[in-house]
Amino acid sequence: MTIEIIQQDFFERCDDGLPKYRRLAETMAHLIESGLLTAGSKLPTHRAMADKLQVTVGTITRAYAEAERRGLVEARVGAGTYVCQSNRPGWVFSYPSQAPDECNFGYNIPPYLDRSAPLAQAMQTLAQQADQLNHLMLYQDPQGLSEHRDVICHWLNRHGILLDPARMHFTSGAQHAIQLVLSVFCRSGDTLLTEQVVYPGFLGLARQMQLNVKAVEMDQQGLIPESLDTACRLYQPRMLYCTPTLQNPTTAVMSRERREAILAVCRRHQVLVIEDDVNGLLPVDAPPPMVNLDSEQVIHFGSLSKCLAPGLRLGYIQVPGKHQDRLNTALHHHCLMISPLLSALACELIHQGDADRLLTAIREDIAQRKLLLDRYLHSYHIQHHAQSFHAWLTLPDNWRLSDFVAAAQAREVIVKSAELFTPPGSTIPQAVRLAISAPHNHDKLEQGLAILAELLAQEPYPDFPL
Ligand SMILES: Cc1ncc(COP(=O)(O)O)c(C=O)c1O
Repeated sequence: MTIEIIQQDFFERCDDGLPKYRRLAETMAHLIESGLLTAGSKLPTHRAMADKLQVTVGTITRAYAEAERRGLVEARVGAGTYVCQSNRPGWVFSYPSQAPDECNFGYNIPPYLDRSAPLAQAMQTLAQQADQLNHLMLYQDPQGLSEHRDVICHWLNRHGILLDPARMHFTSGAQHAIQLVLSVFCRSGDTLLTEQVVYPGFLGLARQMQLNVKAVEMDQQGLIPESLDTACRLYQPRMLYCTPTLQNPTTAVMSRERREAILAVCRRHQVLVIEDDVNGLLPVDAPPPMVNLDSEQVIHFGSLSKCLAPGLRLGYIQVPGKHQDRLNTALHHHCLMISPLLSALACELIHQGDADRLLTAIREDIAQRKLLLDRYLHSYHIQHHAQSFHAWLTLPDNWRLSDFVAAAQAREVIVKSAELFTPPGSTIPQAVRLAISAPHNHDKLEQGLAILAELLAQEPYPDFPL
């Protein structure tokens, strides 16, 4: 299995212009970071790998040596080559942090807020309704309880997201929604289009399901319609996956006109749009989601992870009417249903007014964090948005990406390399994502930003030969 995974990634990179040994080292780095090659796995022998990739044994020897130099693998005498324990940050969450002094910009999470009081109140209200509690403990329709769908849809509608309670399904967060969509609509070997840099959780699932991902050029507003049109012609994709509002990692927000133009291209090529709206509730003035513009062309999902609490694990999805039954069956096969206790809690938080209060508190906290970001990094090329948890920092020319990530880590500041967000075969931008929402408080954030500003101003290669 290891060898097939390596082979797929290696061949997907064949346009990268790198020598083959470097391409294989990149493949290994990418698979290790995305968790598909785990610490302790044994790599295939040089001969087996060479046959599979149609290269010489010498190329494999150079590639393994390069991976060893980068600390990714170790050669054990007489036993083979093994993947090392990674000390580089991947995108998988690990709490609590090992190092108390660490400033972690890695996780795209809401800023820390004390949510215990509203949650306790919601639980108490539920606890007083014995009949309701007994009802919540039964198996339900895979779609979720209709009274909960009514409440959540009404709340979303108030925030400008026009979903229909008769069509909406609950999911276990947006990540689960992506998994559902890919399993319902795609088959191994299909091609999906996406943004040039994209949420790693999507890339990981696509890889697991052996789907090909092709990147479409972006500008400040996200996907470029003309490039999408060309890619549709070239690849005949099954679907387009995109995040029109606060794209992860670039923070791009598509204007209404851009959304309409993207939809027009997709209609022309009969390509369904997967609209990941996980950040859709954060901006105060986001353009309408694509599902409002054409609900028969768009698969829309979002979740309460960013605007309320990721620990609730509650998301929602709506697919075009003709695909509704397929989704229902798939959700039933995946998990029978999403726990109605979670949707009941979310409904209580909405009734109490706490869902709105928390969303406002999150926006206000981010606005303050953004002031700190501006204070420390204003002179660098940084993409951000007033209500975005993350920022996208393009490194100045004096830094190489991997060196910058390592130098920050040596100062106990964790940032996410563009490598994690880049589909296989695409050029990796010299950029890092900073989740300014993640450091526990503003002091910690400021401390981390000051270190990053210090590093960025340095000349890391004073003896670099000209
Ligand atoms: C673009 C995007 N989609 C989906 C998710 C997953 O969200 P959830 O916690 O709702 O599963 C994330 C999480 O960061 C994300 O950034």
